[in-house]
Amino acid sequence: MESLAIFHAALNRRFLDFIFDEGIAGVLSGQHECDEFERIVELLENSHGYTLKDGNRRRMIAVLLDFLTECGYRRQGRYTADGVNREPAHGSLDSFEGEYNFFSRCIDYAGEYLRGGKPLYDFNGGCVDTWDEFLGNPEFEYARGVLAKKLYEGCRALDRVLVLCYGPGYDICHLQRYSEDVKITAVDYNGAFYEAARAKLLRPDAVQWIHSDKWGGFGSPLPFEDGYFDAAVFSCADPYIAGGHKRFVYEDIYRVLTRHGLMGIITRGYPDSQCGSDKLYQRAALCHDFAESVCEGWQGFYSAKQTRALLGEIGFDIKSLTLNECLWMAAKS
Ligand SMILES: C[S@@+](CC[C@H](N)C(=O)[O-])C[C@H]1O[C@@H](n2cnc3c(N)ncnc32)[C@H](O)[C@@H]1O
Repeated sequence: MESLAIFHAALNRRFLDFIFDEGIAGVLSGQHECDEFERIVELLENSHGYTLKDGNRRRMIAVLLDFLTECGYRRQGRYTADGVNREPAHGSLDSFEGEYNFFSRCIDYAGEYLRGGKPLYDFNGGCVDTWDEFLGNPEFEYARGVLAKKLYEGCRALDRVLVLCYGPGYDICHLQRYSEDVKITAVDYNGAFYEAARAKLLRPDAVQWIHSDKWGGFGSPLPFEDGYFDAAVFSCADPYIAGGHKRFVYEDIYRVLTRHGLMGIITRGYPDSQCGSDKLYQRAALCHDFAESVCEGWQGFYSAKQTRALLGEIGFDIKSLTLNECLWMAAKS
């Protein structure tokens, strides 16, 4: 997928430009010993007026530093501008333009957010069109298509499917394409996406829509009895689970699945510098993490290793982890 590589290159370049144009690179490269994270945080608070006391803004600086390291901007404990490739990215973004524009607007706003500005986008209603345009991007759509296919191939019986955090409805669209009979139950923690999701579907009335006042979001129990669903789909929402709730969320999905029921998750893992996968992709994942941090409730990508361990402890049997460790298929044992 050549245009995917062009998109990733353009995104990497966009983030690098921010780091240089915002003057962060200058602050870092002026230092002799920039090893210590706390020292860097203090420097940026003083030089840029960033408010880095809270977890999310602090985490953004850690992501930014990991990105610079991945780009070769850090060598032998020092940050250096030597050898940093700021070549413009060439080629057309084609269908990735919407995704690029979303991240670009987020990165544009990052300086203001780091200085204490309120989140740029939230899920309360005013930003539905923005989310709709972003979430319909070809990268996520491809993954949703593969997920739906794997569910239908992997489940002996697929009668009741839970779509958790249905958002603008793309997950449901893919499932309905595969089967006319499947009974989908859709739940989100607020009703903002209801109309946008319905409008996208061929059979909106075939879905059981759970009113948002029945579920308080991550950390509160799903309003379903034990063992009710043959499968659950959970895409692009894992990084919105606060760390303290993560075990509970997956235990609760486990609870509502029938024995051998399948769970499909789409989420990126936080890039592991040891794992030698595609560098361009790893950097793009860091850009994504940094950029979406300006959205309400974003917690960052979790490490795939930790997620794997957690799902195993809960009792899930991980059947496959594909698409650059983005698509998880796990069965209740
Ligand atoms: C990026 S959207 C993904 C939506 C959809 N699954 C998709 O792939 O298009 C994130 C979803 O997580 C939900 N969400 C965000 N914060 C949440 C929270 N604290 N509790 C429950 N759901 C939350 C949003 O309402 C939204 O549906």
